[in-house]
Amino acid sequence: MSNTCEKAYITTPIYYVNDIAHIGHAYTTIIADTLARYSRMMGMETFFLTGTDEHGQKIEEAAKSRNKSTQAYADEISATFKTLWDDFDISYDKFIRTTDADHMKGVQKAFTDMHAKGDIYKDTYKGHYCISCETFFPAIQLVDDEFCPECGKSTTVVEEESYFFRLSNYQDKLLQYYEDNPDFILPRSKRNEVIRFVEGGLTDLSITRTSFDWGVKLPKEFNDPKHVMYVWLDALMNYLTALGYGTDDANIEQWPARIQLIGKDILRFHAIYWPAFLMSLDLPLPKHIAAHGWWTRDGEKMSKSKGNVVNPREVADAYGLDNFRYFMLREVPFGGDGDFSQKALIDRINSDLGNDLGNLMNRVIGMSGKYFDGKIDSANVAKYYQSELDEVHASLNKLEPLLFEMQIHRYLEELWRPLTVANKAIDMYQPWTLMKEGKEEEAMALNGLIAAILAKVSIMLEPVMPAVCAKISKALGFEINNDTWTRMAKGTDLLEPFTLEKIDPLFPRIEEPLLEQMEPIDKKESSKKSEKKSDKNEDKKEDKNEAEGIALIGIDQFFQTSLKVGTVVQAEEVPKSKKLLLLQVDVGEDEPRQVVAGIKEWYSAEDMLNTQVCVVANLKPAKLMGYKSEGMLLAAKDEDGLCMVRPEKPKTAGTNIG
Ligand code: MSP
Repeated sequence: MSNTCEKAYITTPIYYVNDIAHIGHAYTTIIADTLARYSRMMGMETFFLTGTDEHGQKIEEAAKSRNKSTQAYADEISATFKTLWDDFDISYDKFIRTTDADHMKGVQKAFTDMHAKGDIYKDTYKGHYCISCETFFPAIQLVDDEFCPECGKSTTVVEEESYFFRLSNYQDKLLQYYEDNPDFILPRSKRNEVIRFVEGGLTDLSITRTSFDWGVKLPKEFNDPKHVMYVWLDALMNYLTALGYGTDDANIEQWPARIQLIGKDILRFHAIYWPAFLMSLDLPLPKHIAAHGWWTRDGEKMSKSKGNVVNPREVADAYGLDNFRYFMLREVPFGGDGDFSQKALIDRINSDLGNDLGNLMNRVIGMSGKYFDGKIDSANVAKYYQSELDEVHASLNKLEPLLFEMQIHRYLEELWRPLTVANKAIDMYQPWTLMKEGKEEEAMALNGLIAAILAKVSIMLEPVMPAVCAKISKALGFEINNDTWTRMAKGTDLLEPFTLEKIDPLFPRIEEPLLEQMEPIDKKESSKKSEKKSDKNEDKKEDKNEAEGIALIGIDQFFQTSLKVGTVVQAEEVPKSKKLLLLQVDVGEDEPRQVVAGIKEWYSAEDMLNTQVCVVANLKPAKLMGYKSEGMLLAAKDEDGLCMVRPEKPKTAGTNIG
């Protein structure tokens, strides 16, 4: 039974109803769903919240442009989000809308309480307002004195009476909090950005508007009917009102949240305003604010005008929902930006899922069917394959912290190790040879080992790929739940004797992109290139570069490469290799990266130790002589030999190069 009673309140941002859901929304929601599912499996009291953000000028204008009443429009779009999450089997416990009466009451209560605390006062505000971002910007931050520094749209000058929140009072308290709680903002690299911003000075925040009225009114006692609440105060409060704050307090003991997922663009609101509001209300702060990166499509920013927005429903329908979930979580290190392309998705499905996982399932079905009528008995697994079991259990034991530290791509990477152990064991021990030699007991134990590995992996993979893992576990004769998680994934139990059920291949190979209409982007790119050659000089330059074998790339493509300063904290030789050194390189992350570098002919391990290097930090990991390499070092080589490229002066490990 449950071995923990900790609570897990997990939230997504609430989505604006000015447009329908795209891949970015799906990404946040799927990560949150994965965490919620894992928390439930481990027996935590879990509450998973999502919903829609429906007030503000932006929504009012979107409704007007479609000739609809604001409420009817908000109802319609909110329903499209809810239906999508239902169709995606998102395991939310509550779907909140900021137009819910209880929510609005809760926001009013917060306003009253902050006012009573002395944190709210009335004054006049003059500033440049971006409706799209629902944010004021000081003149100094505007682009060309007019345009929003965040989205580039035109801002309007607004002068109005406003209530203010004394954000400036919280500057020191926030800085102290970030210092005392280094994991409050994840990933840690984002934390520094926030600290720098707060250190730059916080000004009080205008928290009401009089220029429109689609919002929560001030509490009656203020007798100030022309004011409505600033959307971000309204919206952030959803995390509390969803638990009954200000009305019935039904679930309020779920607070503080364990993880609040957001995109990097709304970090400032969640890591500065939100904790300040909570401090003002004398409430505890969430454990983690976790900010993910931005998705692009085929290397380009998505936008409606370009017509290249990835529709998550379309992708999931074509490629399978679980495959899409796996792709998004595996493809991008949390916090980094990710690029969606059908090619990348197909590669993940054919390779990780098809070759490593699906094929293993096929192999065990084939072997047990051929030799044992589908029967599998684990009785002698430990007798013959203890070292494989140890390796598998060591990997499984590393997983949970990776998930809750938001290193989900590493979680999945580590979860694939047991599959490698299983595939290797089949190749090495060869059940067909064992059978030929009359070693039936050993062959049966090998099947037991493979089945057990598949069972253990499917338990830990279930939060990411629930439907696929339900199929695997059914075939393997067990159910994924808190009990099997405790015994087989956390513990070392194997499967009870059972008869393997044959199932269809889990990941049929995909040869071609399945969505035709998604392809034109690439084609457009190549036709654009041929059209473009009007400028003769440009042509010449391009020709010269091409002749020299240099393909021209845009600055965006360059920035897809993450280059970082690293410090070599450990260095040794790769045994039996003439060329390779095995280095542990600190690139400013929680743990050093392991890099296998082909530099031994020019540098000894000692030469490299404690020196600084330039690391390509977003290369897909590769294996060299059996060692995983998680990066590449920059070096220059000519006929005189090779030398490392290094920063001219010492720089903090992890500093970006570019
Ligand atoms: N309503 C606010 C959030 C209020 S939370 C109290 C909002 N809504 S949003 O609909 O514009 O964005 C919701 C989330 O989607 C944000 O976390 C944002 O980062 C994310 N994304 C929007 N576009 C995205 C990509 N292209 N890629 C990844 N995520 C992106 O902000």
